[in-house]
Amino acid sequence: MQRISLLNIAHDTLKKHIQINDTVIDATVGNGHDTLFLAKQIGPLGKLFGFDIQQSAIDSTLAKFQSIPFTQNLRLFHASHESMKEKIPAEYHGKISAIMFNLGYLPGSDKSIITSTPSTIKALNAACTIIADKGIITVMAYPGHKGGDLETTEIVNWYQQLNKSQFQTDIINSSMNNGTAPILFIIRKHSNHH
Ligand SMILES: C[S@@+](CC[C@H](N)C(=O)[O-])C[C@H]1O[C@@H](n2cnc3c(N)ncnc32)[C@H](O)[C@@H]1O
Repeated sequence: MQRISLLNIAHDTLKKHIQINDTVIDATVGNGHDTLFLAKQIGPLGKLFGFDIQQSAIDSTLAKFQSIPFTQNLRLFHASHESMKEKIPAEYHGKISAIMFNLGYLPGSDKSIITSTPSTIKALNAACTIIADKGIITVMAYPGHKGGDLETTEIVNWYQQLNKSQFQTDIINSSMNNGTAPILFIIRKHSNHH
């Protein structure tokens, strides 16, 4: 339940922020629930990029979009999100309004295929370089499962060294704050004009 309620906060935050026709990224496609959510926010002419290291995740998400073609501009990469800057055409850099990370493993799938701390940190750095001014990055982290504890600690360290004049950072803990409950990180890039 905790997992669901924090994810709802992530969705609500993104929903308020994303405009129709925006360009957005799902950094962890998985079963495509978040990809579909993002597609609904940007409408049929928005641009949506997605990443997953599991081909099965890419295939099942593409299949979902075939039955419900929410967006005409979906591009999914069977690649690690740490390569997002290289994979996404340069014309979109600085124009991406939202990037969503939902870390850990895919529920109902192989639990050994999880996000790894070094590539997550590289991906977060890449995300910060291609996000638009006033853009938003959300990161759901799960310290309660194997590997997720270290990953969450490293994200906190990463988060603390972010340039505060460029980025505003918020951490949202679930009410069950016992060290194993999920954590939502929200990173907003300031506009250059103030
Ligand atoms: C919690 S699941 C994502 C759930 C998904 N957003 C959904 O709505 O179903 C995490 C996903 O991250 C993927 N993943 C793990 N390491 C990755 C990496 N380096 N780059 C991209 N995706 C990765 C896993 O394969 C898994 O599908």
